[in-house]
Amino acid sequence: MKALIHPQGPAFSKVIAGVWKWTSKDIVASCIPAVLEVGITTFDHADIYGRYTIEELFGSVLKDNPGWRKEMQLVSKCGIKLLAESKPEHRIKHYDTSFQHIVSSAENSLRLLHTDYLDLLLIHRPDPLMQPEEVAKAFDHLQQSGKVRFFGVSNFTASQIDVLQRFCIQPLVTNQIEVSLFKPEVFFDGTTDTMMRWKMGLMAWSPLGSGKYFSDEKIMNELNPFAEKYEASVAQILLAWLFKHPSNIFPITGTTKPGRLIEAYQSLFIDIDRQDWFAMLKVIRGKDVA
Ligand SMILES: NC(=O)c1ccc[n+]([C@@H]2O[C@H](COP(=O)([O-])OP(=O)(O)OC[C@H]3O[C@@H](n4cnc5c(N)ncnc54)[C@H](OP(=O)(O)O)[C@@H]3O)[C@@H](O)[C@H]2O)c1
Repeated sequence: MKALIHPQGPAFSKVIAGVWKWTSKDIVASCIPAVLEVGITTFDHADIYGRYTIEELFGSVLKDNPGWRKEMQLVSKCGIKLLAESKPEHRIKHYDTSFQHIVSSAENSLRLLHTDYLDLLLIHRPDPLMQPEEVAKAFDHLQQSGKVRFFGVSNFTASQIDVLQRFCIQPLVTNQIEVSLFKPEVFFDGTTDTMMRWKMGLMAWSPLGSGKYFSDEKIMNELNPFAEKYEASVAQILLAWLFKHPSNIFPITGTTKPGRLIEAYQSLFIDIDRQDWFAMLKVIRGKDVA
């Protein structure tokens, strides 16, 4: 199932495959066809994943299967510079949202992924030295050259979104942020309100809390009755809990197992009751809403 992440586009699968842990060719080559088959067609990358190695790995599989590109949407990110063996010029981990870095990072992602265009490019983290005019100029350049179709941000606060959007002609179509039952703060601190005002969809990273809570017996004992009620797994009700929110959420699941991605897709068909939504929130907060 696909949906528009912003009224002006693009259309993404409601469950997105996050590839930061797709660290082997076997994982990439088994996950891509399995998820395309079920309708998960959007893949979330960043230049830095796998210390700058995952785009190349994914691209090598795409090169062997060129027909897959037209069925999928590719998202990548730029703006973080990591210390890595392949980047001896980096003396410290830092951010870079200069025109030159945004353009060269996007062009490098295209080369590694063996594709002519990215469906979406995100600024990975808010950069204290960001010059909004320069970011806007880089977006114009990449769009006019046909290299990137849509633009957005990641980990931005409400006010950081407002500033950048005022300088960009293109709509910022999403803010990719951490949100889950275990980390619901953005629903309460104004971030999702601002995104809804700009009609930006929400790409939710770590929607299952990065898998950390599946081994927490106390939390699982409290979530299991909800899973039983909806005849689903705990992972599925965690995703269904996000889909209930009105901010047009696209969870990015980070599993490396095709079966779990397919299970995630099925959560789209679970409609959590309003009172159960608050009851699940109470499991984590330990108290009722005010
Ligand atoms: N924009 C940003 O700053 C940012 C930051 C972090 C991540 N991201 C994006 O978000 C994506 C997802 O992040 P995440 O990996 O933390 O997501 P997640 O979906 O919350 O967690 C996935 C982890 O949970 C484990 N897991 C255990 N039981 C599971 C179950 N029943 N179903 C599914 N997974 C289960 C998975 O292990 P198995 O592999 O064994 O299934 C995997 O290690 C990343 O790939 C990346 O694309 C973006």
